[in-house]
Amino acid sequence: MSIATPLHLRAYRASLLHFHADPAFAEHAYCWHEDGLLLVDGDKIHAAGDYAQLAPLLAEGTNVVDYRGKLIMPGFIDTHLHFPQTDMIASPAPGLLPWLETYTFPTERQFADPAHGREVAEFFLDELLRCGTTTAMVYCTVHKESVDAFFEASEARGLRMVAGKILMDRNCPDFLADTAEGGARDSEDLIKKWHKHGRSLYAITPRFAPTSTDTQLRLAGELAQAYPDTFIQTHVSENPDECRWVQSLFPASRSYLDVYDSVGLLRQRTMLGHCIWFDERDFARMAESGAAVAVCPTSNLFLGSGLFDFEGADAASVTLSLASDVGAGTSFSMFHTMNEAYKVARMKGSYLPAARMFYLATLGAARSMRLEGSIGNFTPGLEADFIVVDLQATPLLARRSAECNNLEELLFALALLGDDRAIGATYSGGRLVHQRAGMT
Ligand code: GUN
Ligand code: ZN
Repeated sequence: MSIATPLHLRAYRASLLHFHADPAFAEHAYCWHEDGLLLVDGDKIHAAGDYAQLAPLLAEGTNVVDYRGKLIMPGFIDTHLHFPQTDMIASPAPGLLPWLETYTFPTERQFADPAHGREVAEFFLDELLRCGTTTAMVYCTVHKESVDAFFEASEARGLRMVAGKILMDRNCPDFLADTAEGGARDSEDLIKKWHKHGRSLYAITPRFAPTSTDTQLRLAGELAQAYPDTFIQTHVSENPDECRWVQSLFPASRSYLDVYDSVGLLRQRTMLGHCIWFDERDFARMAESGAAVAVCPTSNLFLGSGLFDFEGADAASVTLSLASDVGAGTSFSMFHTMNEAYKVARMKGSYLPAARMFYLATLGAARSMRLEGSIGNFTPGLEADFIVVDLQATPLLARRSAECNNLEELLFALALLGDDRAIGATYSGGRLVHQRAGMT
C-alpha cells in the first residue's frame, strides 16, 4: 500500500512535458503525460507523472489546481540578453557596429544612474516572466550599480538568474570605459557580493574582444580561474566586419575564438553568443573546452549578421542553447526565438524538430550552463520553475492545435504561432510570479 503525500504539497493538473535528453541524439528524450499531475513541495519539484497514478497518493484535502486543457513545462531559459537594452529594442541600423555606436552605447550610458537601472530591471524581469522565461544569462552595463540593480530586482522575485558587469576598456566612448584593473576589481567585488547569494549567480562579462585590451582579457581569465564556478559570457564571431576587426587587433591569434582561449576564458560555464563565422577547429575547441553556444536567431537576422551552422556544431558535439539577445534580438519570447531558429536551420539546409527546440530552451540550456542539478526539468528535488502554456490563447493557435495529430506537430505549431499570450502563468521556486489576464 502506498503512503499518502504530505498535505502541504501543491498539485497542478495539466498535460506535462519535460525532457531528459536531446531529441537529436536520443530516441526517448522526453516525458509526456497527457493527463498529468505536477507535485510541488515548497520551492522544489516533488513528483511529476500521470494523474491517475499520483492522485490516489494525495493526502485528503490537498488542493489541486486545475489546469486541464493546458500544458505545463519547465520555465524557459534564455542564455544571452542585455537588460539595459530593453528600451532600445527594434532600433534600426545597417549592421552590428553602427548599431552599437548609434543606439547601444548612448542607451547604456544612462545606467550610471542607479534609479534608472532599478526601473529598467523591474520592467525587464516582468517582461521575461510574461514570456515564460524563468532563468536568463544577462549582460548589465559597465556600471557596477547596474548589477546591483539587476540582482536586487531578481532576488525580490526569487528568480534563478545569472548576470555580470560588462568589462570594456578600449574602443568605446570614454563615458562607458572602465580600466583593466578597475574592471577586474569591480567584478571580484560583485562575485563576492552576488555569486550564489540566494539564487543569483555571477558571470564574468567582457563585452567582446574589440572593446577589451589584452590585459583586460588576461585579468578576466585569471578571475575565471580563481572563481571556477562562476560563469563567463561574451560575444564571438557575430558579424564579418567585427571578425575582420578582431583579426587586425589580435594578429597573433589563429581565430576570434582563440583570442578568448589563449587567456583561459574557455571552460565549462562559458556561454558564447553567436558563433556564426566558426570553422571546424573552432567548433572542435568549443566541444573540447566545455564552452556552450547561445544561438541568437532573431538578433542575427535583424542585424544581418549571418546564419548559425547547426550541422557544423552538431558534427563536433558542441553544446547548444537558444537566446533572444534583446535588444539586438527582436523579441523576449522564446517562441519567437524558436520560430526564427527553425528558419535559420532551414536556410542552412538543416532541420530543427520542434521537440529539439523545446529541449534547447529548457534542459539543453540548463546543461549548457551546468545547472541541470537545479533547473531544466521535473526531476524530484529540482527548483520548481514552470510555466502553464495555453493552447487556446489566440483563435488561430486554438484552431491550428485542434488539427495536430501528434506532439511534434503540436509543439511545432506552438513554436511558430506562440508568443507571450500563450503563457498563461509562470511559477518560480513554486511561487506564482506571472498570471495572464483572464487566467484563473
Ligand atoms: N557585440 C558587442 N556588444 C554587443 C551587443 O550589445 N549586442 C550584440 N548583439 N553584439 C554585441
Ligand atoms: Zn548580445
